[in-house]
Amino acid sequence: MENFIFQNPVKILFGKGMAAKAAALIPAKAKILLVYGGGSVKKNGSYDQTVAAIGKRKFVEFGGIEPNPEYATCMKAVKLARDKKLDFIIALGGGSVIDACKFIAAAAVYKGKDPWDILEKGLPVKDALPFGTVLTLPATGSEMNMNSVVSRREIGKKLAFASEKVYPQFSVLDPTFTYTLPRRQTRNGVIDAFVHVMEQYLTRPANAEIQDRFAESIAQTLVKEGPVALKKPEDYDCRANIMLAATMALNHLIAVGVPQDWSSHLIGHELTALYGLDHAETLAIALPKVMEYKKAQKLDKIVQLGRRVFGIEEKGKIKAANATIEAVKKFFVKMGAGVELKSYKLPADAPEAVGKNIARTYKAIGENGDITPADVVKILKI
Ligand code: NZQ
Ligand code: ZN
Repeated sequence: MENFIFQNPVKILFGKGMAAKAAALIPAKAKILLVYGGGSVKKNGSYDQTVAAIGKRKFVEFGGIEPNPEYATCMKAVKLARDKKLDFIIALGGGSVIDACKFIAAAAVYKGKDPWDILEKGLPVKDALPFGTVLTLPATGSEMNMNSVVSRREIGKKLAFASEKVYPQFSVLDPTFTYTLPRRQTRNGVIDAFVHVMEQYLTRPANAEIQDRFAESIAQTLVKEGPVALKKPEDYDCRANIMLAATMALNHLIAVGVPQDWSSHLIGHELTALYGLDHAETLAIALPKVMEYKKAQKLDKIVQLGRRVFGIEEKGKIKAANATIEAVKKFFVKMGAGVELKSYKLPADAPEAVGKNIARTYKAIGENGDITPADVVKILKI
């Protein structure tokens, strides 16, 4: 295990009715920008409970953050925050709303020329408005991490930034807010969280017992509870387990001291930028193919995943790895996602197009930095 420093400053308010506890965490004199998406928050009680927690404080609403949040939309919110001199943000929604708010928080006080440089050139975020989140879709882990992904459709780019300045001050995780999730979003959340675990686990052994066992428990929980949530959307315990699993999957804890891959995500982001697939759909395509392509390098961890999470007891390592890849695909299909390019009717030259886009930003990706854009093309052709 490598040396590490770990600190996560996000206060989690977990459970039914916990939005009320946010009232004590929002500064008394805060002038608030309340940000949400297309309106689902008005149907599950999350909007009403958040407004109740805001109480008598001044707040301005900004709705309309789209899935895969758009830079231009974020910049409209930045203008509103600046014009009205707002000093605290509440992100009410899924990963897209939270990611948008992280960018809005940084851009609103950005002193450089163009906030797009934070994403495009990776310029450092020196300051950001404080914000809290009320989560309605367990998936991205954005509620407890310092990452954000923003898209700019006019130039076909979907880019990420990370900064300690954009950790939320608090996040409300009320599982009852997720009862209204359509099957597609429940599917997306479970698959995204599962793949987050895999990006931090399916590399090479690092003698990191705690991280491995914790990662496996998160994965096991998602494999067990995901299909239950599709059948029983209002099962509190199931929704609660999924919500905590998704948050723990990407709050930087299981990443400490171990190698990380993230190639499935980088390939996936390009599939979304080019063809508009849901984030989780791209991962359901990419992960099994990356596992297949990098089977030799990842062999020990693939076999361990198979044995400990899917109960695979095949004798030979290669056989066990093949069975594990099949089990992962079966899980994605059971959740309702296709695992092939053709499942989404993508054009025949999609692998080349993704490879070309990856090459705009990266020479190579993966835990060993050895997956080149040419390899990405081969991966997608599997
Ligand atoms: O817009 P509304 O009307 O709210 O509807 C949303 C949206 O259409 C709906 N929804 C959310 N909660 C609901 C609900 N519908 C009914 N009931 C509820 N309780 O779900 C739709 C999708 O929401 P979105 O926020 O886009 O989904 P998700 O949470 O999966 O976020 C995806 C975005 O996060 C990025 C992805 O790339 C993508 O842009 N990611 C962010 C990461 C991070 N910050 O660490 C890591 C991830 O790997 C990922 O890249
Ligand atoms: Zn993801």
